[in-house]
Order: sequence, then structure tokens, then C-alpha cells
Amino acid sequence: MVKNIREIISDEDIVKKLEEIGLTDAIVLAVTSPSELASILEISETKARKIINEVKEKIGLEFETADKVLERKLKMKKITTGSKALDELLGGGIPTQAITESFGAFGSGKTQLGFQLAVNVQLPEDKGGLGKNCLFIDTEGTFSPERVAEIAKAKGLDPQKALKNIFVTRAYTTDHQMLIVEKAAEIIPAKNIGLIVVDSVTSLFRAEYIGRGELAERQQKLNKHLHQLQRLADMFNIAVYVTNQVMARPDVLFGDPTAPIGGHILGHISFYRIYLRKSKQNLRIARLIDAPNLPEREVVFQITENGIEDVTK
Ligand code: GTP
Ligand code: MG
Repeated sequence: MVKNIREIISDEDIVKKLEEIGLTDAIVLAVTSPSELASILEISETKARKIINEVKEKIGLEFETADKVLERKLKMKKITTGSKALDELLGGGIPTQAITESFGAFGSGKTQLGFQLAVNVQLPEDKGGLGKNCLFIDTEGTFSPERVAEIAKAKGLDPQKALKNIFVTRAYTTDHQMLIVEKAAEIIPAKNIGLIVVDSVTSLFRAEYIGRGELAERQQKLNKHLHQLQRLADMFNIAVYVTNQVMARPDVLFGDPTAPIGGHILGHISFYRIYLRKSKQNLRIARLIDAPNLPEREVVFQITENGIEDVTK
């Protein structure tokens, strides 16, 4: 899958410059933003875009025969959420080759599920994991190693070892957040990553693009970000879990008074969307929304000191 840029780019000067900075993998180059490449190579953004498009085109020329598509589909794996009920809602767990989005109000359990998955991905396959590591992109500063250690211990893992297998990075701006995802193409194979968590995927976008007039721009950028995540999910057969806080929409009188912030654009990319809401005490209700191959229904699970669990009857 990894192609050297030498086989693709004809401009020798550009190839040399890219080699100098170690950007020799065509896939990594393909997901680099034109503005970033322009500043790295000290060329115009137009030229940078041309190079990236050339690379994308050449990569895209590799058609897949249907048997290969099937082969890839058969490689799809699932990570357990820790709750059988929630796994069943999702058709077996959080899938690879897709983005799973959880949306809901504060305290609904979006981050807790992210912590749980960061631990569970490390479990062997017969225990519902992938035997792989996690890349955790924290945009809200709410990553808690103490809580993750507690969850890992409850799963019978050595908490110290489990923490060492989670690569946490804090994103401060949307550009930063996008750059991390662009760079992830290098980190994923190097660190044996099986899951990317982005918690939350939308908060920085919301903070930076506040006016109504900026909505289109925000959605466009978010759309690009999600496409990049989807691409990584497909390319490396990994799972992507993103969280999305919903705001109450008091202007809506009928139906669900909350709506995912990403809106429709996000909706087209996310393969699985889970709407989480609080119930009494530790109980949480999860509803699967708009999944093409699964029924829309609700299940109940609970958050305990051990993490995400089934409700004990
Ligand atoms: P925002 O990021 O604010 O949008 O919320 P969120 O959906 O990410 O919420 P989060 O996952 O952080 O859930 C927090 C809730 O999880 C708390 O209010 C508790 O109900 C529950 N929780 C967290 N830690 C524990 C714990 O150790 N024991 C129990 N029983 N519950 C916990
Ligand atoms: Mg949270």
C-alpha cells in the first residue's frame, strides 16, 4: 500500500525537497493540506494543490476488483464496548473501517465510552479487542489517565501497561486537530494503532466558527476532517470513535429537542451514530440512529466505577 513519491511525482526538485523532510510516503502526502505543503516547500498553494492532486490521482488509479472489496469487508473487526446490549445495538461492537459517532448532552457518557474503547482495543481478539493500541485526540482537556487506569484494571489489564498503549495528544485549534489526523498515517503503523478517538470532534470547530455566516465554512472543514478520518479507517482497517456534544434546541417544539452539531454533513460520513442520554442513577440509554443495515432501537447500559457495563438484573 505504501508508495514512494518517486514513483509518482515527476518534478525532481520537489521530490528532493520532500525527501529532505522525510515526506516520502504517497499516502501521507495525499492527506497533507495544500497550505501546509506550500509553507513546507516554500511554493505557492496552487502548486502544492497540483502536487497533492497528482498524488491522489495516481493512488486512486488502483482499481479494486470486487473480490478484493469482499476481502477487505471480511477483514472488518469489532471492538467491544464493554456492554453486550450496546454491542448488539451496533451489530457486534465498534467496527473498523468506519466512523462511530456518539452524540448527547454533557455527562451522557461520550467520553467514558472513549476511555473504555481505548482500553478494550488492547484486549486480545477473543476478548473483544484487536490486540492493538489507541490514538486519543483530546480537544477538551478531559482525558483522565486515572480513570483509564481504573477501567483497565477492571478489565484485568496492568494499568501501567494499558496507559503506555494509549497515545494521547491535545489539540488546541481546528488546524491543529486536522494536522494530527494528517500525521496519523505515519503513527498508525509505527505504534500499532487500532483505534482513533477524537473527543470531541466538534468543540473546537464550534468555538472557532461562531457566526452564522461561518457555518458553511465550518461544515466544509469538518467534512474534510471526517473524510480524512474515514480514509485512515479504510486504509489501516482501524476503528474511529468521535464524540459530539449536542446543544439543546429550545426552538424545536416537536420531535427530539437536541440535534447533532455536525448536522447533515457529519451524518453522511458517520456510519454509526449513537445518541446517548442519561437515565436514572448510573443508567444510560443508547439509540442507534440512521444505520443503513441495522434497526433503530434503544438499549440501556450503565456506567460504574469499572466503566461501561451491562445493567445487572
Ligand atoms: P461532555 O464531555 O461534558 O459533553 O460529557 P460526556 O458525555 O463526555 O460525559 P462523560 O463521559 O464524561 O460522563 C461523565 C459521567 O460518567 C459522570 O457524570 C458519571 O455519571 C459517570 N462516571 C464517570 N466516572 C465514573 C465512575 O467512576 N463511577 C461511576 N459510577 N460513574 C462515573
Ligand atoms: Mg466528554
